[in-house]
Amino acid sequence: GNDPGGMLKALWNLPEQCEEAERIAQAIDVNFTATEIKNVMVTGLGGSAIGGDLLRVYAGDKAAVPVIVNRDYTLPAFVDASTLLFAVSYSGNTEETLSAYAQAKEKGAKIIVLTTGGKLGQLAEADGYPVIKVPGGISPRAATGYLLIPTIVIMAKIGLLPDAGDEIKDLTGHLRVLREHLKPAVPVEQNLAKQLATKFYNRLPVIWGVSGTTEVVAQRWKGQINENAKAPAYWAVLPELNHNEIVGFEKPENVLKQLEVVILRDRADHPRVQKRIEISKTIIKDAVSGVTEVYSSGNSTLARTFSLTYTGDYTSVYLATLYGIDPTPVKMIDFLKQKLA
Ligand code: F6R
Repeated sequence: GNDPGGMLKALWNLPEQCEEAERIAQAIDVNFTATEIKNVMVTGLGGSAIGGDLLRVYAGDKAAVPVIVNRDYTLPAFVDASTLLFAVSYSGNTEETLSAYAQAKEKGAKIIVLTTGGKLGQLAEADGYPVIKVPGGISPRAATGYLLIPTIVIMAKIGLLPDAGDEIKDLTGHLRVLREHLKPAVPVEQNLAKQLATKFYNRLPVIWGVSGTTEVVAQRWKGQINENAKAPAYWAVLPELNHNEIVGFEKPENVLKQLEVVILRDRADHPRVQKRIEISKTIIKDAVSGVTEVYSSGNSTLARTFSLTYTGDYTSVYLATLYGIDPTPVKMIDFLKQKLA
């Protein structure tokens, strides 16, 4: 059919996926308290790490402890028994994550594993750590509900975050509304994701986000374009980009003309950053192919940021369609894993 790897179906099911993820995490018993935890770490790669970044931004203005994302074989020196460590791997077989897990165990961190199974699931069960087991069968990048929501629920359970039940309800409600606007049956004239895919087609997407609000969403859009459309994309974050990247819109003119810039905005963006965006647009607009702003929608921060990733998810799949490509297989990732085996 026109959804060979089931990517569109997995996208459509995201609200239900979030609800299921919440139920699965609620059933997990955790035998330590907030006072024992000084920092929270999410270790993982790719689709299994981006949920950690979304958690980091979500918790940023709510949690009394920092959330750090680790994408490596090794862990930073500060990790110890006061670290709550989520080891996240959808497959359970990512070697960097298995290595970080072994180190976390050595350091006596409070480990919780989030996986469909694999080696990581087996090890954690044998070692007696809680395992949040989520359903398999989809791409890790289509499983962001399974890979994000449980970390929020567990942090709230322990008392490291306020109860997130209402925000999750707000999120799933909003995703249900949004998918009706983004689904394949909605023609391009009314479909923002299809319009964005058309802009990106045969261009180089450059996604700008804002620190503390849409920064991870920009990173996610970039990754989704890479993995689903098999095309390059770049991302940067304000205000930082006003201190370097903004200088780079003079040369080479023919390359700059290929850039399609999308700025991801949120109503909670810092007012000074909003002003910076207005000025930045005037600096780049004549040099590049186009500049489009996309605003997040929804009530809670979780709904706004996570629903803006949803728009990017659909955009990347429609871009794959324009390129005549099946979004699901990630041959190069598989090739690397196989070469390293
Ligand atoms: C996303 C994807 C990759 C994986 C990454 C880690 O769909 O395929 O980004 O998420 O290679 O693998 P897992 O998630 O199995 O630990």
